[in-house]
Amino acid sequence: MRQSGSPRTFRVKSFGCQMNVYDGERIGELLADKGLSAAPEGEDADLVVLNTCHIREKAAEKVYSDIGRLMKAGGDTPPMIAVAGCVAQAEGEEIMARAPGVGIVVGPQAYHRLPDMIERATQGQRATDTDMPADAKFAALPARRKVGPSAFLTVQEGCDKFCTYCVVPYTRGAEISRPFADLVSEAERLVESGAREITLLGQNVNAWEGEDARGRRVGLDGLIRDLAKLPDLQRIRYTTSHPNDVTDGLIAAHGEIEKLMPYLHLPVQSGSDRVLKAMNRSHTAESYLKLLDRFRAARPDIALSGDFIVGFPGETEEEFTQTLMLVDAVGYAQAYSFMYSPRPGTPAAAMDGHVPRDMMEDRLQRLQAALGRHSLAFNRASVGRTCDVLVERKGKKPGQWLGKSPWLQSVYFEGEAAIGDMVRTDLIEAGPNSLAGRLAEFAHA
Ligand code: 5AD
Ligand code: SF4
Repeated sequence: MRQSGSPRTFRVKSFGCQMNVYDGERIGELLADKGLSAAPEGEDADLVVLNTCHIREKAAEKVYSDIGRLMKAGGDTPPMIAVAGCVAQAEGEEIMARAPGVGIVVGPQAYHRLPDMIERATQGQRATDTDMPADAKFAALPARRKVGPSAFLTVQEGCDKFCTYCVVPYTRGAEISRPFADLVSEAERLVESGAREITLLGQNVNAWEGEDARGRRVGLDGLIRDLAKLPDLQRIRYTTSHPNDVTDGLIAAHGEIEKLMPYLHLPVQSGSDRVLKAMNRSHTAESYLKLLDRFRAARPDIALSGDFIVGFPGETEEEFTQTLMLVDAVGYAQAYSFMYSPRPGTPAAAMDGHVPRDMMEDRLQRLQAALGRHSLAFNRASVGRTCDVLVERKGKKPGQWLGKSPWLQSVYFEGEAAIGDMVRTDLIEAGPNSLAGRLAEFAHA
């Protein structure tokens, strides 16, 4: 049962993108730094932080059902509830009005101020903070703690692209790049704490720019080049990229930096130029394909991933077919696909020609069938390869381990290993979502 007064235990529940996962980890570290402890699995927490996602309606609605559930389960002593993340940013006032059980509403750029807000909420004052001070939060957060073998590092936040369907420019604010020196020192701390792989995160991660240690302006490839010098860091990834911010340097980096993994997540959203224009994507299907050709020329085995929206307002059957054609032309290793969801305040929400739900469902199913075929084909083509697998956790069966290939495939294998090991593995069998591996003969030589 929850104690009255200051919360002593907490739980952070993150929804949505990897940047929210990163923020959730940092919120946890901040609370631990202030003397709270993580509630043991299965036990009630005094403070629950819901780190929310606003990208689609379904994701945003989850927060209200979660609040209801927490209040009900808590009975006479419900937990202190803090709503963080993008729903907090976009609908802070509405949450406070709709959910009296919520004590704290804190936006994604203000969560470093949570300790103060918790104190106010403990005194019975509900607290809201949705300020967007550029980059203030990172300086105010405690240093990184123990992490797993694969860690996230947010290097860039926000978006200036204003795709007409998207809330991100409103919830996460304008594009900002964290300073080079801060990122190098955070990466060093992550590696000291056990990370062997770092994924650089940003809504438009390849828009990152900064000044390196010698005072030169550099882009993301410059940052990657420097991070690759950390001896115990073995792998570098980055996500999510925008086609417009791809530079020659970034493409070249894929051919030159061994630690940069052969994987690229480059959302395209649609294969129809008319739809892309209405989405304000500022690339065409052809310019996107040409860009991918250049990545492939630099790194022929690169695994490609993308995001898709079906049923954008006005999308015709023919335009949707163009998306299927693009999917076949690319041969994605993996992808994310969604039905269009109108978001309040975005230009697309006010456009004509909203596509009926059953039509969107049908298109999504056809798209996902095509994407699934390509994932399976990509995984099957990997069978017979021998590669390094970074062991991330134990598998479900005794003696089984789960890790990632360079191409971000999940690989299961049995044998002697430990979390954080990099093991040579023969890929022997493929499914749509994972591969079976066998420790390579010379692994223990
Ligand atoms: N409806 C559906 N999908 C969306 N995305 C962003 N906004 C919407 C929306 N309103 C998808 C895009 C983006 C991914 C993160 O979420 O594909 O790349
Ligand atoms: Fe949203 Fe477009 Fe920015 Fe991506 S690039 S975060 S889809 S506005």
